[in-house]
Amino acid sequence: MRIAVIGSGYVGLVAAACFAELGHQVISIDNDVEKIEMLENGGVPIHEEFLPELLARHRGKNLTFSTDLPKSVRQSQAIFIAVGTPSTEGGEADLSYVEQVSREVASAIDEYKIVVEKSTVPVFTSQWVRRVMLLDGAGADHFDVASNPEFLREGTAVGDFLYPDRIVVGADTERCASLLRAIYEPLTSGAYYKGKSTIPNTTGAPIPPPIIVTSTKSAELIKHASNAFLATKISFINAVANLCEAVGADIKEVCDGIGADSRIGRRFLNPGIGYGGSCFPKDLKAFSSVARETGYDFRLLQEVMSINAEQRARFLRKVRNALWTLKGKKLAVLGLAFKGGTDDIRESPAIEIVKALLKEGCEVRAFDPAATERAMEVLPHEGITYSKSAYEAAAGADALLILTDWPEFAKLDLPRLKAALTYPIVVDGRNLHDPADMAANGFIYSSVGRPDVQASLTRPAGKNGKLVAATLGKAE
Ligand code: UGA
Repeated sequence: MRIAVIGSGYVGLVAAACFAELGHQVISIDNDVEKIEMLENGGVPIHEEFLPELLARHRGKNLTFSTDLPKSVRQSQAIFIAVGTPSTEGGEADLSYVEQVSREVASAIDEYKIVVEKSTVPVFTSQWVRRVMLLDGAGADHFDVASNPEFLREGTAVGDFLYPDRIVVGADTERCASLLRAIYEPLTSGAYYKGKSTIPNTTGAPIPPPIIVTSTKSAELIKHASNAFLATKISFINAVANLCEAVGADIKEVCDGIGADSRIGRRFLNPGIGYGGSCFPKDLKAFSSVARETGYDFRLLQEVMSINAEQRARFLRKVRNALWTLKGKKLAVLGLAFKGGTDDIRESPAIEIVKALLKEGCEVRAFDPAATERAMEVLPHEGITYSKSAYEAAAGADALLILTDWPEFAKLDLPRLKAALTYPIVVDGRNLHDPADMAANGFIYSSVGRPDVQASLTRPAGKNGKLVAATLGKAE
């Protein structure tokens, strides 16, 4: 199949590389000339596992890059729209890029093609796309508009694309549905998984994946409702974690207990400093506003969003509780990305917390394995320095804060960390460590939804007057 993917951001570039991997002839289009040149010259603009391999494998063969939208559209049978749909100030999805691209596609269409929404868009978008395309001169029989939402997560996007839990295709004509079925046939028939150089399965999803064919409206809703449900799961468990803190229970035990119910499931039940990223915050607002426009007040989503915001404020209170006053304190910060495994800092709770700490007059020394450069662009320059390792960040700090769930932060050399810090205080916003283990290693440790532990603060003090962690005790 000849496929054009318009937009070479996270979704578009991963989709283009994966379609090429499935054997299709793909053109990845963007109006950013520099990005296209970079991609043509072997560059990889995002940090994504297996993407460099796929680009190297297919660049110049199954996969080409272009800034020429009309030409690429004319050469393709399926046109996927994967341009940005940011939030407007009012919280709705800004669909102006989708509209602009639809008009450009309309003027280039000369024979039957399918135009497929891949970006996350609100219900009714496919109807609008069809309408503007007709107004811009595309013949009614020359195209169908479909919705084929993507469920990929940043950091594991390639694996999620090639090993999905399900493929959702929203198409209102059989002709359109059968073209989309053909595009995904290498996955749904299982043929792809028998290949020699297949990307390994890291998601544990069923093979072959099921394909769910629905109306376009249902597919649009499936995307928003999936993200809203996952965000609800996170806010729910954060709320339960807060209750655990109030009664002295342990959220991990509670999660294991409720997650073992197969109707609930253990995944996405990890409490922390709230969800962030380019999807959940934006999609929750957009879903809530689309519901409002249709006359339904989806109050549950408002609560999910407010619990999420409160979670960051609670974390700051934990830092204050651990340190008393904040002004002038030297803080080591581990993690700036919105989650581990990515360099993306969009709507990152870590960035928001660092900004708040800088405002309080703290001196921050931050380390992130991938997101530092991006963080530098948005964080103030005063009061913050960037380190090359967790231990360098910790050197001489009054406390260490864990803000992103990078796997390497769960495997820190604890004695080395303790030796580097001025005080052995760790506030863990991602529950990466075992409280008993932290106390046994001499730390004063707080996390989310679990009792704080602290080695007793007995005198005589150790060298330099530091507090000595002696016995394990629960914090008051
Ligand atoms: C999310 C969805 O998981 C994907 O299915 C979807 O395709 C994507 O949005 C999208 O719409 O494009 P992503 O934003 O990459 O993917 O990240 P997630 O792994 O879902 O994490 C989102 C946020 O929730 C992160 O800040 C993460 O730290 C937080 N989170 C996640 C928790 O706080 N607890 C959890 O148990 C899981």
